[in-house]
Amino acid sequence: MRRDRGMSEAREHEPVMLERCGELVAWREGGRYLDATIGNGGHSKEFLRRAGEDALLVGLDLDVASLNRARSLLRSAPGRWFLVQASFARMDRTLRGVEGSFDGIFLDLGYSSAQLADARRGLSYGADGPLDMRLTPSIGPPASELIRSLEAGELEELIRTLGEERNARRIARAIDQARERDPIRTTGELASVISSVASSRFRIKTLSRVFQALRIRVNHELEALESALPAAVRLLAPDGRLGVISFHSLEDRIVKRFMVLSAKECICPPDFPECRCEHRASLRFVTRRAIQASGEEVKRNPRSRSARLRVAARLPDRRAA
Ligand SMILES: C[S@@+](CC[C@H](N)C(=O)[O-])C[C@H]1O[C@@H](n2cnc3c(N)ncnc32)[C@H](O)[C@@H]1O
Repeated sequence: MRRDRGMSEAREHEPVMLERCGELVAWREGGRYLDATIGNGGHSKEFLRRAGEDALLVGLDLDVASLNRARSLLRSAPGRWFLVQASFARMDRTLRGVEGSFDGIFLDLGYSSAQLADARRGLSYGADGPLDMRLTPSIGPPASELIRSLEAGELEELIRTLGEERNARRIARAIDQARERDPIRTTGELASVISSVASSRFRIKTLSRVFQALRIRVNHELEALESALPAAVRLLAPDGRLGVISFHSLEDRIVKRFMVLSAKECICPPDFPECRCEHRASLRFVTRRAIQASGEEVKRNPRSRSARLRVAARLPDRRAA
C-alpha cells in the first residue's frame, strides 16, 4: 500500500457530525427512518439509540460489504431494522407502497474509510489495486474501461467538470500518452501518470480530484442524487426530515438547489405579474445554511473537513388536503 493519504483513509470510519445528524434527523421517538447510505451503520445506530425500542429503520447500500459491516454494528441497537442492497436512486421503487411514511431520511454521500482503504475496490489512489471503483459490478463498466475507451477530449472534460481540476488538459494528455504505451489497469499506475504531470505542491489535491471525477462517473453519483432527492420527499411523512451530508461542491450544489427550489411557493419568472406555475413548496428549511463539522471534529477526523450537512422538513401536502 502506498504511504500517503490512503493510510489515514484506512482508519476506522468515524460517522461525520454524528450528534447533529441524530438530533436533526432522528427527531421523533418511536419514528420510522430511512438511512439511504447505511455504510458501516454508525449514523443509523445513533438514530436507533435516540428513537428507542419502538423505532423502525430501513438501511440501503449498493455495497454488500458495507451492508455486512452495518449488520454487525446494529446487532446491539434497539428498535427494528432491515437492510436492503439497493441504490438510493431507486429508493421509491425499492420501498414501493410506503409513500409518506418516514419521519427521517438520511443520505451521507460518498464512501466510507473502509471502502477507500480496500485496495481490491480500486477507489483510492492511496491503496494500489485494480482500477475498478464500482460499488457493485452491475453498475456498469469499471474505471479502467472508462480510461481505455474515452477520447482524450472526453477525458479532459470529465476531469475538468467532475474533478473541478484546472490542469485537466495536461492530465488527460498524459493519460492518453501512457495508455498508448500500455493499458492503465491499476490505481497505482494511474496515480503515477497523474503525479508525473502534477506540481509536487498540489500532487495530493490533483490525485484526489482526478480519482473523484472517475468515481463520480463510474457510479453515476450525481444522477443518483438527482433522482433520490424528489423520491425522498415523496417518502417523507409531514414534518419528516431530509438530511444530506455532501463532501464536494458538485453534490452540495445539487442538494442546495433542490432544497431552495422545493421551499419556494412559486417558481414563475420574476417579471410575471401573477403566479402561473403549479409549483407549491414541499419543504421548509430546518437549517438555513449548511452545517459544518467543528474544528475539534476536523482535527480528530480530517475526512469531516469538507462535509456539509443540510436538513429540510416535509410540508403537509395542501393539494391533497
Ligand atoms: C460515507 S458512507 C456512509 C457512512 C455511514 N453514514 C456510517 O455512519 O457508517 C456512504 C455509503 O453510501 C454508499 N453509497 C454510495 N452510493 C450509493 C447509492 N447510489 N446507493 C446506495 N448506497 C450508496 C456507499 O457504498 C457507502 O457505504
